[in-house]
Amino acid sequence: MNILVIGSGGREHALVYKLKQSSHVDRIYCVPGNAGIAKDAICAPISPLDTTGLIDFARRNHVDFTVVGPEAPLVNGVIDAFENNGMPAFGPTRLAAELEGSKCFAKNLMQKYGIPTADFRIFDDFNQARRFIANHPYPLVIKADGLAAGKGAIVCRDKAAALAALKRLLIDAEFGPAGEKVVVEEFLQGEELSILALSDGEHLACLAPSQDHKQIFDGDRGPNTGGMGAYAPTPQVTPELLEDILHRILQPTVKGMALEGRPFKGVLYAGLMMTDQGPKVLEYNCRFGDPETQVVLPLVEGDLLEALLAAHDGQLHEVKWRQKNGAAVCVVIASGGYPDKYEKGKPIFGLETPLPHNILIFHAGTRQQGSQIVTEGGRVLGVTALADTLIDAVNAVYSAVGKLTFDGAYYRRDIAAKALIRGNRGR
Ligand code: AMP
Ligand code: GLY
Repeated sequence: MNILVIGSGGREHALVYKLKQSSHVDRIYCVPGNAGIAKDAICAPISPLDTTGLIDFARRNHVDFTVVGPEAPLVNGVIDAFENNGMPAFGPTRLAAELEGSKCFAKNLMQKYGIPTADFRIFDDFNQARRFIANHPYPLVIKADGLAAGKGAIVCRDKAAALAALKRLLIDAEFGPAGEKVVVEEFLQGEELSILALSDGEHLACLAPSQDHKQIFDGDRGPNTGGMGAYAPTPQVTPELLEDILHRILQPTVKGMALEGRPFKGVLYAGLMMTDQGPKVLEYNCRFGDPETQVVLPLVEGDLLEALLAAHDGQLHEVKWRQKNGAAVCVVIASGGYPDKYEKGKPIFGLETPLPHNILIFHAGTRQQGSQIVTEGGRVLGVTALADTLIDAVNAVYSAVGKLTFDGAYYRRDIAAKALIRGNRGR
C-alpha cells in the first residue's frame, strides 16, 4: 500500500517511523514533512489546509490510505473530502472533530452523557459573563470555544484577570470567531495525563497512558508551549485506573458521539486532570498528541497500519492490540525564545553522530538547506529513548540530547521527574 501522512511535526515523524515498519507498506508520502521525515518518506510542499491540493497529490501518487496528524485540517473536514472522493482516510469527520474544534460542543456532550469534567457555563454575551464571574470562586478558567493554537485556555487568579480575559475574547475578539463563545469553568487541581485511544466509532484500543510537559521551564513554570516532552506509560495510571477511565470517560464519549449521529473514528485523546474526586476531562483532542505520539507509538507492539485500517473499517475489535514492556521518554529540543519570538535557520550539529539503538530522533521544525539541516520552528527535535525502566530511559534520553546542539537550543531537564519522585516515595 501507498500511505500518505499529513503534517510536519514530531508527531508525523513518529507516525512515519511506525508505519514504515508495516509489512503492508510500499511507499510513504508525507506533506509537507520536514528535513528528518524526508529521509524516511517522500515529501512535497503542500499545506495541510489545501484540501484540493492534498486530494490531487494523493490521486496522482496512487495513495491507498491517508493518515492526518494536525487538528486544523480535521476540523475543516479533510476526512469528509477524501472519503467523498472514494479515498480512505484515518481520522474523524468534520462533525466528529467538533469534539476538539468546539469546547462548547464538548462540554455539552460531557454534561449530557455524565462524563466527569469541571463545572461550567457557556456565554456569548460579555455582560452576562461579567455578572457570572462576579460571584464565582477563584481561580477559574476561561476558554475560547474554537481552535486557538493551544492559547485559548486562560487561568484567572482573580476577578480582574477574569474580566480582562472576557474582554480579550468577547469584546476585542482576539481569537476571532473562535472566541465568540466562551466556556467559564471551575479550576481543577491535580496532575494532568493524556489518554489516547484508537476508536472505530464503537470499539476502543488504548495506547500507553502518557504525560506531557506543557510549560516551557522546569518545575512546570512559565508559559504554555505545544509540549516540551513526554513519557509513557505513566506509573500513576494503574491497570484498574485505566479500566475506570475507559468505562467512565472514553466509552461514554464514543457512545455519546454515535448517539449524536457523529460516530467518532480516529484517535480520541482525553486530556485528564487527576483530581481528588477521580479523573476529570480537561479537554478532548481528535488526533494524536504531540509530543505524546513520540512516546506512545514506539511502545506499540505490532503493525500500526493494520490497527488504523481496522479502526477505519469499524473492525478494531478484530485486532490483537498490545503494548511493549518498558518505558519511553521524549525530550523536545526547542529554539531559544520559544514559545515567544525565536530565530530560525540555525545549523543543527550532532545529527550524524551514531546513537544507541534505543534512541530515536524525531524531527519537528527542521529544514534542509544545502547539505545542512537547520532549525525552522519553535520545537525543533524530539529525542525519544526506549528502555526497560523509566529511569533507564530518562538517563539514555538525556545523554543523547546532550549530543545535539544548535545556537540557542533549549530543553527541559525534568521530563518524567514527577513519576520518578513518586516512584522513590514508593507510590
Ligand atoms: P485546554 O486547552 O482546555 O486543554 O487547556 C489548556 C491547559 O489549561 C490544560 O492543559 C491545563 O493545564 C489548563 N486547564 C484547562 N482547564 C483547566 C481547569 N478546569 N482547571 C485547571 N487547569 C485547566
Ligand atoms: N501535547 C498536547 C497536544 O498534542 O495537544
